[in-house]
Amino acid sequence: MVDVQPILQVKDLYKRFGGLVAVDHVSLDIHPGEVIGLLGDNGAGKSTLIKMISGAYKPDGGQILLNGVAVSFSTPLEARRRGIETIYQDLALCENLDASANIFLGRERMRHQLGIFRVLDRSYMLRESRQVLDQLDIRIPELRNPIRQLSGGQRQAVSIARAVYWDASLMVMDEPTAALGVPEQLKVLELIRTLRNQGVPVILISHNMQDVFAVADRVIVMRRGSKAGERKVSETNENEVVGLMVGAEYTQVIKQLHDVSEEVHITRHDESEKDIR
Ligand SMILES: Nc1ncnc2c1ncn2[C@@H]1O[C@H](COP(=O)(O)OP(=O)(O)O)[C@@H](O)[C@H]1O
Ligand SMILES: [Mg+2]
Repeated sequence: MVDVQPILQVKDLYKRFGGLVAVDHVSLDIHPGEVIGLLGDNGAGKSTLIKMISGAYKPDGGQILLNGVAVSFSTPLEARRRGIETIYQDLALCENLDASANIFLGRERMRHQLGIFRVLDRSYMLRESRQVLDQLDIRIPELRNPIRQLSGGQRQAVSIARAVYWDASLMVMDEPTAALGVPEQLKVLELIRTLRNQGVPVILISHNMQDVFAVADRVIVMRRGSKAGERKVSETNENEVVGLMVGAEYTQVIKQLHDVSEEVHITRHDESEKDIR
């Protein structure tokens, strides 16, 4: 991987809100077709980090390079035009528009009417959307219904279809499965694998460690705004990652809690043996 040009390079990224440093000199590289799990406790700075990558926040310091070129985005739409697609925890799509309008949001296809007026080419956009949704095996029976009438999983799927349709160079997902039922979670994980197979790297933020271990190649752990470590999934386990998330002082506390519960267990065991005798 060393000699492959990373798709995304983040160097010393820094962001503060008043006196609070939310992201403290974080650096990372993402290569073609890699799925990265971004992990960390609540408030660790994960969302702030990816919001800088996706143009929602302006960094207070550091650099973002896309395919080796320094970029700076003023809006998420600008980032999307440069190939960075994002699914946020709290915002993804325009609720009042249908799936195809969302796939073409900000990049609408126009046609000429009577040779003068430029109008939205609705049928072209519907046709194209239907095709990309079919290709990904995503079923949305009534494509003309507003997004707000779709299930959470269908919405995530529409965002992923948008990334595929526009040939995204990077897909960023902040808790994509948090509000979904189990079958829809599995579908999203399957779509993440599809993206990887198409060479599109994914940054996946999730508090569900099992999901992350199921699809990620590498995990990056944040703690209190800093990068606490990164590991290949094949070379780590959930315990080690939790240790990185909570830090050394808490690792000790967690170990003590486990020891106490083992003692309780042993005592009960002794008592029950007495009963038998
Ligand atoms: N818009 C904001 N204004 C002020 N503080 C914020 C804002 N967004 C995030 N923070 C703070 O920055 C820190 C990191 O938050 P966040 O990036 O949302 O963490 P995570 O996504 O890992 O839970 C937290 O202490 C949070 O309260
Ligand atoms: Mg967050």
